[in-house]
Amino acid sequence: MVSIPELDRRYVVQTYKRQPLVLVEGRGMVVKDDRGRRYLDFVGGIAVCSLGHCHPALTNAIAVQAKKLIHVSNLYYIGSQAELAALLARVAPRGIDKFFFCNSGGEANEGALKLAVKHVGRERVIAMHGSFHGRTAVTVGATWKVAYREPFAALIPKIFDFVPFGDLAAVEHAMGEKTAAVIVEPIQGEGGVNVPYDDYLPGLRKLCDEHGVLLILDEVQTGMGRTGKWFACEHWGVEPDIVTLAKALGGGFPIGCLGARGEVAKSFSAGDHASTFGGNPLACAAAKAVVQTMIKLKLPQHAAKTGDYFKKRLTELAENHDCVRDVRGRGLMLGVELSSKELADKVVAKAMRAGFLINATADKVLRFVPPLIVERRHIDRLINALDQIFGEACK
Ligand SMILES: Cc1ncc(COP(=O)(O)O)c(C=O)c1O
Repeated sequence: MVSIPELDRRYVVQTYKRQPLVLVEGRGMVVKDDRGRRYLDFVGGIAVCSLGHCHPALTNAIAVQAKKLIHVSNLYYIGSQAELAALLARVAPRGIDKFFFCNSGGEANEGALKLAVKHVGRERVIAMHGSFHGRTAVTVGATWKVAYREPFAALIPKIFDFVPFGDLAAVEHAMGEKTAAVIVEPIQGEGGVNVPYDDYLPGLRKLCDEHGVLLILDEVQTGMGRTGKWFACEHWGVEPDIVTLAKALGGGFPIGCLGARGEVAKSFSAGDHASTFGGNPLACAAAKAVVQTMIKLKLPQHAAKTGDYFKKRLTELAENHDCVRDVRGRGLMLGVELSSKELADKVVAKAMRAGFLINATADKVLRFVPPLIVERRHIDRLINALDQIFGEACK
């Protein structure tokens, strides 16, 4: 019989560098591979499986809706879509009260940029060094990593002005009469779990207001409780004009979303933007179950508390191992910067062999974005394993 990795190599476009692992089952914090080995999952589908794997509230909601109605066109009213929007309005940053649904984070950012350009009537956008906003032609244009952009330069609009993350003077300098928006992740994810200093987001808000420019917050990775608040911007009391979401919103069911202030949302009228699958009955039933369960279990608060404990334990670990350069992040979005990419890759591989899934981003930053249901006992087990792994690998 042909193995799954071999089938993949033969028939799947090879855009992913995969770990040698075939995962077949999951429950809560645990996933199982095809040989029956169990792993504690600190990747969570990269900040997606917010309720853990196969939470009954989510699997039941999907099963019930799938038997009733899976898809209808947005030509008709969709009950679960309207209800999900109403639910999001309860937890969204203040002022955000209109929502458009799509299927991914990139698509949400693409919609946000279209809305901003149409609303403001200008065409340039300021983006940050270290950013990641997606892989569509427009959103990869707002993404910092040159290797992602260069081969597709011909497709990418030349509308982006990049400035260093955290540098307000550079933003002010880049703002011109053609600037429509600033797009920024409140805490950069793929860029290496970079937390800005406290005046940064309020400063961006002020600059945007002074120049009549919209502030788009990409909360695709930070949103839905991840950092210990529903939205990361709440840490700094900043209200965006447009916010984007995906990842954790569906708990693993594909859905993306942009939220806008009502006055901004009005700039989209019928026909301006659309998505065949966006906000379909099944996706919205899944996301509704996720949001309701997050509210019921107070997951943002849980993420804040557990995240503080996790960070404390990682910081203690760092004190005992010279190869750790930094520990950073908020809530359950934490990063440990190591001394090299080789070391980070080695630690990820060793952790996998020891039964823990972790991942590295920005070459040498171990990133921890576990399901928001993670408990101290899971964290303790990981820390013990990392202590041993660092002891061996850091020599
Ligand atoms: C901050 C941020 N924005 C956008 C995206 C793109 O989301 P998707 O892969 O769902 O298109 C990601 C994905 O990692 C992300 O972290």
